[in-house]
Amino acid sequence: MKVGGTLRVPGDKSVSHRALMLAALADGTSTVRGLLASDDVKSTAAVLRGLGVPVPGVTPGEIVVRGVGRRGLRAPAADLDCGNSGTTARLMSGVLAASAFPSRLTGDASLSRRPMQRVARPLQAMGAHIAFEGGDGLPMTIRGGALQGLTWFSETASAQVKSAILLAGLVADVPVEVHEPAATRDHTERMLRARGVDVRTDELCVTLVPAGRLDAADTEVPGDPSSATFFAALAALAQQGSIEIEYVCVNPSRAGAFHVLSRMGARLGYEDARDAGGEPVARLVVSPRQLAGVTIEPGEVPSLIDELPVLACVAARATGETRVTGAAELRVKESDRIATIVSNLRAVGADAEELPDGFVVRGGEQPLRGRIETKGDHRIAMAFGVLGALDGNAIEVDDRACVAVSYPDFWSDLDRVRR
Ligand code: S3P
Repeated sequence: MKVGGTLRVPGDKSVSHRALMLAALADGTSTVRGLLASDDVKSTAAVLRGLGVPVPGVTPGEIVVRGVGRRGLRAPAADLDCGNSGTTARLMSGVLAASAFPSRLTGDASLSRRPMQRVARPLQAMGAHIAFEGGDGLPMTIRGGALQGLTWFSETASAQVKSAILLAGLVADVPVEVHEPAATRDHTERMLRARGVDVRTDELCVTLVPAGRLDAADTEVPGDPSSATFFAALAALAQQGSIEIEYVCVNPSRAGAFHVLSRMGARLGYEDARDAGGEPVARLVVSPRQLAGVTIEPGEVPSLIDELPVLACVAARATGETRVTGAAELRVKESDRIATIVSNLRAVGADAEELPDGFVVRGGEQPLRGRIETKGDHRIAMAFGVLGALDGNAIEVDDRACVAVSYPDFWSDLDRVRR
């Protein structure tokens, strides 16, 4: 297969959620351009509307959000439905923990199975009342109010947990300090700083000093590196050609998959690297070369956690073995991604094996054919979409529509770059 062309992948999902939340909580009016118009981001917009913020419809064009201020949210008249979006549920938990009214967060079947105690515990330690209806997942009722400051040693490397604590500190006006076991994506820290909040980072410790304010700011959302990785992977695996992806967020806390693809042998470069509102961005140019298996170390997992499904598919076409460990978090994503990746690779004839906290894939050249079960997980659908696009492979994806939570135009973009 030959590839070619220039793409602009949709806006970064993590930045999009945060841009809406911070615009809602700011004093003043913010504009947001390049927002990811996907189901997950629409869930955040709907939750904010449920709290009385006039958030316009989610589009990639410019939208204007009139902030209500950190104390301006209103008690919701109904449940706050987070859909499939863990980021909505977890980050908004921090905001709601510091808001003086009760609210009940709900989600779809997949989100309701995902762990929420990890955010509830630190927020309870700050003084919030949080009740579950059985187990560790949604629905969850938060009765917020005045909170106290917190120093928290997080057991899991999770940007969502870190961000929930930072947002609780921001809204409650109390100091918080979060220690992480490994560095996770730092968009919340960067975006708070850009809005006048004193947030300090010292290796694995992040501190927020209460500021009593949150300035409005305009955001131009960079392209999502997680979405870009599908096309970087396709270009790396093609027979010839190259793909250029414009205006991609290359924040080091998100760029692990690009380093791994280079390490596997792909020709991958950044052009026109610059800063865009506190986030490093660049044009990514990727072309094929023979790829070899690699070891992905636990320390680099947070910087590529969402890219492991597609990296596993790349590994199935590389020579030798690829081994991933320290990635037990994959088991509590939109599906148990260790199980979903391995069972689907095997279903199409690839050689893969589960580890408790990762997987091993042994690459080969045999045609990969069959039907895969996404379990409704968008990144599984897209990862196998890339693998199925390669010459000789024929892979049927059971639920193509589930890509709507992060990349609604994925299938048409995939057609566009194939020559
Ligand atoms: C995200 C953090 C990560 C990531 C998710 C988005 C964020 O989750 O997998 O897709 O926007 O903060 P964890 O914080 O649970 O690792």
